[in-house]
Amino acid sequence: MHGFEVIRKDCLKNKKVLVRVDFNVPIENGTIRDDSRINNALPTIEFLKRAGAKIILISHLGKTSHFNQNQSLRNIAEEVEKKYSSRVVFIDDCLCENAAPIISDSSIDDIILMENLRFHPEEEECDLAFARRLANLADFYINEAFSASHRKHASIFAVPQFLPHALGLSFVKEIQTIDGFFSNAISPKMCIVGGVKLSTKINLLKNLVKKVDKIALGGGIAGIFLSFVRNSSFKILDSEKYGEDIAEILENSKQYGCELILPVDFSTSADGKKVASSALVTSENGESVIFDIGPDSVELFKHHIRESKTIMWNGPIGLFEKPPFDSGTIAIAREISRLTKEGELISITGGGDTSFAMNKFGISQDLSHVSSAGGAFLSYLEGTELPGIAAMRDGYSLQE
Ligand code: 3PG
Repeated sequence: MHGFEVIRKDCLKNKKVLVRVDFNVPIENGTIRDDSRINNALPTIEFLKRAGAKIILISHLGKTSHFNQNQSLRNIAEEVEKKYSSRVVFIDDCLCENAAPIISDSSIDDIILMENLRFHPEEEECDLAFARRLANLADFYINEAFSASHRKHASIFAVPQFLPHALGLSFVKEIQTIDGFFSNAISPKMCIVGGVKLSTKINLLKNLVKKVDKIALGGGIAGIFLSFVRNSSFKILDSEKYGEDIAEILENSKQYGCELILPVDFSTSADGKKVASSALVTSENGESVIFDIGPDSVELFKHHIRESKTIMWNGPIGLFEKPPFDSGTIAIAREISRLTKEGELISITGGGDTSFAMNKFGISQDLSHVSSAGGAFLSYLEGTELPGIAAMRDGYSLQE
């Protein structure tokens, strides 16, 4: 990476390398529902194998502060073994006395997988003594967990203080892709921002409105904007409390020449099952609620997508988990996928729900880049410095 001193793979031969991965994957009835985060670390794993390094993987899984079977990383050890084509040696507790001897005695062809770091509350407390004990197990540290790097936790922020370190190959690709969108991408640049809660997207919109040519709003947040912009008869809960923020975004959209595209119709429903007619109506009296954008809005969004050269998408524009309210998100996803495949568009998507939707609709592979990250993607787009990046400023860049 620019400004980083290079470390060649030969320098890592026989070195113990602690790799912070993000194996926080959805597991249902013992089955991994989305393995993209495991795949994501593969380029770095293969690099380290070529380097002849001893690989020690550390991660969290779920939200917890004590041992429980369901959140044990042992549940994914078999999958890791398959995907990385190496025998996995599992260490039940990253702080146990025999962790160091197990690591030393293992073969260079094995991959060591440590138990869920969050079984120790010191991980989330960013405890320095805990971080030092982890660091003592290795010679080098790699952060290959972009998606967890918005957390100021020991394995993300503190361990690199004690070891020479580098960002993983997929991590670097993630940030270069997002940086490239803002700095080099071909205009017109469009963002699609959806999701339910405006509170989680306010800072994002404040940042984007100064940097891109168009922003299309979907999901619940579009309804809140509309109720403010049109000052119309329909009311959406809590819309008033965002008045100042929305006014600032609208003002900046004029000042920076960013076109805001709002839906012109919605799919609404009173019971969450049957679709009411598409019209600009919503949850007054709690009788009818927006579940998706309507067909005219789909056409409007598609028109703007066709006019754009680069797209960044965060947040589904409807309740995509529940047909028929997935139709807006599907139609937009298909248009983006078609144009990307034809070479007309560069497309980047990110955010937990958005990436999940792209996988669900089977179009992830057609897009230019699908981020593995949820909260970290959002924070990075907001312009916030992630603890996982701040900690790596004096790091190395991995090179063949
Ligand atoms: C994620 O899934 O966004 C990351 O793994 C971080 O997980 P967390 O929200 O539990 O910290």
